Amino acid sequence: MPSGLISSTVNISTSPTKAKVAVLVPCGESGSGSYGATLGKLHAGYIEPIHSKVFKLALSIPFRKGSVFNIGDYGTADGGSSIDFLRGLLKILKEQHGPDAQFQVIHEDQGENDFNSLFRRLTGIIPEPPSYLLTMDNVYAFACGTDFYKQCVPSNSMHFIMCMMSVHWLSQLPTVYRDSIYVCNESLEEEKVALRRQAQADWEKFLLMRSRELREGGLLFVGAPAAYMDQKTGQERFSAEKLVTLMTDVWKSFTVSGKITRQEFSDTNISFYLRNIEQMREPFEAENSQIVASGLRLLSSEIIFNKNIYYSSWKQKKDEEGIDNRKQFAEKMVSAHRNWSNHSFMAGLSGSRSEEDRKQIVDDLYANVIMDIAKMDPELFKDDFYTAYALIQKV
Ligand SMILES: C[S@@+](CC[C@H](N)C(=O)[O-])C[C@H]1O[C@@H](n2cnc3c(N)ncnc32)[C@H](O)[C@@H]1O
Repeated sequence: MPSGLISSTVNISTSPTKAKVAVLVPCGESGSGSYGATLGKLHAGYIEPIHSKVFKLALSIPFRKGSVFNIGDYGTADGGSSIDFLRGLLKILKEQHGPDAQFQVIHEDQGENDFNSLFRRLTGIIPEPPSYLLTMDNVYAFACGTDFYKQCVPSNSMHFIMCMMSVHWLSQLPTVYRDSIYVCNESLEEEKVALRRQAQADWEKFLLMRSRELREGGLLFVGAPAAYMDQKTGQERFSAEKLVTLMTDVWKSFTVSGKITRQEFSDTNISFYLRNIEQMREPFEAENSQIVASGLRLLSSEIIFNKNIYYSSWKQKKDEEGIDNRKQFAEKMVSAHRNWSNHSFMAGLSGSRSEEDRKQIVDDLYANVIMDIAKMDPELFKDDFYTAYALIQKV
């Protein structure tokens, strides 16, 4: 069975109906490192094109000899996607500041996170990717289980904070989608407005918290899956849109077959927002910006097309060995994307169902999605994926 996340739900009051907020809870075997083995593997490659730019800037962060250099990895999951990057970063910082300089790495995520897998990775029990702790002296690692919409570490303490593929998750679900699981062209204007408002408020809140935590000259590096302009059609699309649309269609077909109720369909809402690059920049450009007043400056921002390792390996096998294994491509894609999406479907299902029943329905959903993708040409389904990056400094 592909790995995924189970859900817990919290009821909050929203208009017009009560919406359920899904909280990510890593599922299955805690400590199995499933995130890093699936979605984390895909994500690890996404930041490669921007490594050297970030490393160069990191070398300019002021650091007083004899003090401790503090690094944060926010929304770390099980560390599988960031460990390689952190090893590279620590290596160049150690070369710059000397072998005696001391480093603290704080791996932050929400309380429900699979910190067990993180520690197993850091200590080498899960060997891949190799932990920086195994080969480096004077580097110490910690975990922080505080919601990143709150202050997580003491004020003015951090030299470098990274946060990859996490700030699109909102602090709460601002609306229920009448006829979809995520915002789409047909969504009501009030759904679109509520979502955008929540997303911008959360982005500002996240920035303000990090601003408090960063030291003067400290660097914040954020990457998030993005909405982007489709050059061919001139229309705005969002990363993984084809997959989200397919999941929506299959979920909706379950209301027709009677597998789930209409109420359960409308209770299924993905509580993230994929911002475009302008929305990432907005807090820095607004008049009387409280973000700018707090000392944060946007050094650069860009949107980068991401490599899909599953598509590449399907294509390589096809071109070099003549093997067109579409089922394997479909299984790998779904196994990776199940990590972030599973909890939203589990949360949409009625609480009166047994856990087993809910799991079975969600398994059926993903089995159907795999079947549908396997019937398609990966060239057409590969799903463009873009990440928006922002490099921010505290002055
Ligand atoms: C898709 S994973 C990204 C993991 C990793 N950084 C990467 O690049 O692959 C998103 C992570 O954000 C975390 N997250 C979401 N909302 C959060 C919040 N409010 N506070 C802290 N972590 C949060 C989730 O628990 C999850 O581990």
